[in-house]
Amino acid sequence: MREAGLDGLASRLVDAGALASDWLPMFRAVPRELFVPDVMWPGRAKGTGQGDAIDRDQDPKAWFDAVYSDVSLTTQWDDGQHTGTGKGRTPTCSNSQPSMVFSMLASLDVQEASRVLEIGTGTGWNAALLSERVGQGNVVTVEVDENNAKTARERIEGAGHHPTMIVGDGFEGYRDGAPYDRVLVTAGLTEVPHRVIGQVRTGGVIVAPYATTYGGEGVVRLVVQRDGSAMGAFVGSSAFMRLRQQRQKRRHVREYLGGKPWPADGVKSMTPLSPEDVGDWLPMFAIGLQAHDVFPWAETYDDGSYTLWLRDTDVTSWATVDFEPGREEFDVYQSGPRELWSEVEAAYRWWEGHDRPGFHRFGLTVDAESGAHTAWLGSPNRPVPRVG
Ligand SMILES: C[S@@+](CC[C@H](N)C(=O)[O-])C[C@H]1O[C@@H](n2cnc3c(N)ncnc32)[C@H](O)[C@@H]1O
Repeated sequence: MREAGLDGLASRLVDAGALASDWLPMFRAVPRELFVPDVMWPGRAKGTGQGDAIDRDQDPKAWFDAVYSDVSLTTQWDDGQHTGTGKGRTPTCSNSQPSMVFSMLASLDVQEASRVLEIGTGTGWNAALLSERVGQGNVVTVEVDENNAKTARERIEGAGHHPTMIVGDGFEGYRDGAPYDRVLVTAGLTEVPHRVIGQVRTGGVIVAPYATTYGGEGVVRLVVQRDGSAMGAFVGSSAFMRLRQQRQKRRHVREYLGGKPWPADGVKSMTPLSPEDVGDWLPMFAIGLQAHDVFPWAETYDDGSYTLWLRDTDVTSWATVDFEPGREEFDVYQSGPRELWSEVEAAYRWWEGHDRPGFHRFGLTVDAESGAHTAWLGSPNRPVPRVG
């Protein structure tokens, strides 16, 4: 069962262009099943979200089928606070989707004996794959969660590898192992850690999922420059769990309304732009690069309509847009010093006006001195404008 599953997934990934021939021997030598717990929640094939738990003891076939499918497998909820086979609130560890794992490894472009830092050991699969490729003495992997780290250590060592495994905050990197040629981050960043950039040699590469507060995430491939900055283009979309310290604390809607019922002091207007248009992953990404510190949330109703809420992280401003199927204009309410829907609409129109560029056309520069992040379109001298 195992061989068929492993071979089947290998050929599907190779056919799809997701598994390059130089990683195929590692895919075979480090079987994914060794890194998956007996109980896990497989990702749904299309879109985000998890299916029901699969327990290896109760249904070994379903378990193997899931392991050898191109889906992520959630292995922990709520930082381990959640137990049992139901779903928790927030997935906090997974064995990532194989096509994502190998496309990120391809972007990492390791050379023989590259020194690699991985941030987010998770289940340990990536660290073992890297150890197999560049040698365990060249791999350092950092995990913030003690239980995840302990289980990953058992699995990595069980597979015959002994990279340096650190329990700690990956945002700090791991100075004792520096300088690195490559850094692979497998948790979503809203800020590329300045200290980590400082631990990479000039010309070294950092591959990381990057998202703004607004959402919509892409994998960026940064090259560390001689002046200490890091610069590079996005290579595709992604949907990772956020780095533990970079999770956003969202304040309740009530705190925005000043104790009054909606629409409180909101000023009414109409918009021809449908909330449906701004809700896909790519436009969200493009909007987030322009509209800072604002996040969306949809309040859904049984009849298919919903209210798109926009709130700023400073708790100064909010906006709502009511979506109803079949309408061509939508009610807007905005309150506070920032007109958040106007910002989102302007950001969307900018993206639309540039022929809806995909992830690959965007890039990011992280300044050496200030650590400021500047997103750009096409080339580093064309910064994406800020709205608001
Ligand atoms: C998607 S999983 C990583 C998948 C992993 N590379 C694998 O092969 O299974 C994300 C992991 O990042 C860890 N993490 C979150 N914040 C972290 C931080 N600040 N430093 C190190 N690890 C962190 C989580 O605990 C989780 O285990």
